[in-house]
Parts: sequence; structure tokens; C-alpha cells
Amino acid sequence: MTGRRTVPLVAEGFSIRAARPSDKRGVKALCARIWPDDYVPEVFDDWVRDRRGRLWVAVAAERVIGVAKLTVMGEREAWLHALRVDPDHRKRGVATALLAHRLDRARRLGARVARLDTAEDNVAIHRLMSRNGFRRVERIKYYHARPTSDDPPRLVRARELAEAWRLSRGRLFHEDYVARALARSDIARAIRRRECFAVGPPGRPSAVAIAAAQRRSRWMGRSRLRIRLVAGARSDVRELLVALRGQARVARVDRAGIAPPSELWSVVSAAGYRRRWHEAMDVFERRL
Ligand SMILES: CC(C)(COP(=O)(O)OP(=O)(O)OC[C@H]1O[C@@H](n2cnc3c(N)ncnc32)[C@H](O)[C@@H]1OP(=O)(O)O)[C@@H](O)C(=O)NCCC(=O)NCCS
Repeated sequence: MTGRRTVPLVAEGFSIRAARPSDKRGVKALCARIWPDDYVPEVFDDWVRDRRGRLWVAVAAERVIGVAKLTVMGEREAWLHALRVDPDHRKRGVATALLAHRLDRARRLGARVARLDTAEDNVAIHRLMSRNGFRRVERIKYYHARPTSDDPPRLVRARELAEAWRLSRGRLFHEDYVARALARSDIARAIRRRECFAVGPPGRPSAVAIAAAQRRSRWMGRSRLRIRLVAGARSDVRELLVALRGQARVARVDRAGIAPPSELWSVVSAAGYRRRWHEAMDVFERRL
């Protein structure tokens, strides 16, 4: 694939092609019309070079009227993000075409499943997804808590990898801008980096978490211990989340933060974490 190829016109008056560096201005203007503080212009330079699925634009009369990113991870999972269509060009099938184009591309790159996330109240995307065979697989909300003087949790040891994996397999793993199935290698890497925590006796962890300190950024005003995964029996998860507030103190960050799926919301609350935003995000999935 050259990336410069323009797909056949998918509807009257526009075409889809890979974004070029010179599209930055057009993408920026488009995003500014939708969300003035959109993150897409910030990541444009990285995304336009990213070969894992590419950034795509819909173009009409040489103007960018739509944008969408595809990221294929590992070999089999696709993440669809940053779908935006110019308000003056909506309801004409542009989003549908950008979706179909990326699904087709994802399939050809070997992906077997496609996912995306969107705000729970984004009616347009919810409809677009259900019309295209996606189903909701997860609802997440962001919670955070202040550090405490609780004892931090213990680190998971390398020889506990199998146990940690047994507790956590099957979960979605949220990274910056994407989510994918957790892999055993994610746990192994977190253990090596001393970012995998547990409660429970040595050799038999009853709950595990992956958490790493993040410095403050433009998007996340405060520094935080980002808890990217927590798994295990509910009471042990609660104990671990309390201990991670102690870890936040040790790591000298402002907050411990986690975006758990709905089945963990009550446990996270019980550990003293509070909702940061009321809005939830829904993750949709479709087999390819
Ligand atoms: C959501 C968005 C991408 C849709 O773009 P679009 O080009 O107008 O969408 P399409 O014309 O392809 O519409 C396809 C389907 O989406 C759904 N849809 C689109 N706009 C809708 C709306 N305002 N209300 C309800 N459903 C809507 C419908 O099911 C529609 O099919 P139908 O009209 O035959 O029922 C566009 O409104 C947009 O850019 N919104 C702001 C950015 C955004 O929310 N992005 C998603 C972030 S995850």
C-alpha cells in the first residue's frame, strides 16, 4: 500500500485517502469546528507517520471534511479512533465511509477484531456502531483518589507471572489512545519494570494491578499513579486499591487514578476513589 492511493468515490462528492503532512492545517481547522480543545491536532504529526493502520481523511473539493485513525496492534486487533466529520458535511455517509474503509483495511492487515470507545451519550456514534454490527463490551468511568499513608502493596515477582496472568487474562488493557486485549507479555513487562503490584501471600497473589507514575501533562493537570489494570477477587481488589493509594504517596504523585469497567465501580468507590467526571465511556467491539 502506498498510502497515497485514493479509494473510489464512496459517495457523491468526496473521496478517502491517507492523510499527508500537508493536511495538518485542514485537520486542525476541522477539529476546531467540533471541539476547540481536541487532542487530534496535538497527535497529528505522530499519527501521519504511523504505519500501523494510518490516519485517513475524507476530502471534498480538496478540503478535508472528515478524519479518522486506524491502529492495528499486534497482528489481530484494530482500534478505530478520532472520527470527525465537518458539521457542514454530515448525514451524507462520510462517517460510514470512513468506518467501512478502516474496517476493510484492518481486515487486510490481519485484524480479527475492531474496537473503539466513545462517550456514553454520543448518540450518533452509538447508532452508527449498532448499524454496523458493533456491540458494547465495556463501560468505563474515570476515578481518582488522594494518596494516603496506607502501606503500599508488594511487587509481583517474576515467578508469579502465571498466577498474575491467570487472574487478569481476558481483560482489556487501555493504553494512550487505544485499548487492546491484555497479553501475558504485558504482565511480564510490568513485573520487570516494577509496575506490577499484588496482595496475597508470596506465590499466591489474590489480586494484581499494573500501575505506573505519570508526571503532569496538558491533558492530565496533576501527576498520578495510573492504574491501568486491576484484577482478582473483589475484596482483594479493594484491599489492593487502598494499598495503591499508599503507593501514590511513595511515588510522590498527586492522585491515584483508574478507569475501571462498570463491574468494578462499587469496589473502586469502596476503596475511597471518587468519580472525576460523571460521563462514562463505552467501548464497542466487532469481529472482523
Ligand atoms: C458522529 C459523526 C462522525 C457522524 O458523521 P456523519 O458523516 O454525519 O455520519 P453518517 O452520515 O455516515 O451517518 C451514519 C449513521 O450514523 C448515525 N448518525 C449520524 N449522525 C447522527 C445524529 N446526529 N443523530 C443520530 N444518529 C446519527 C445514523 O445511524 C446514521 O445513519 P442514518 O442516518 O442512515 O440513520 C459526526 O456527527 C461527528 O463528527 N460528530 C462529532 C465528533 C464525534 O462525536 N466523533 C466520534 C468520537 S468517538
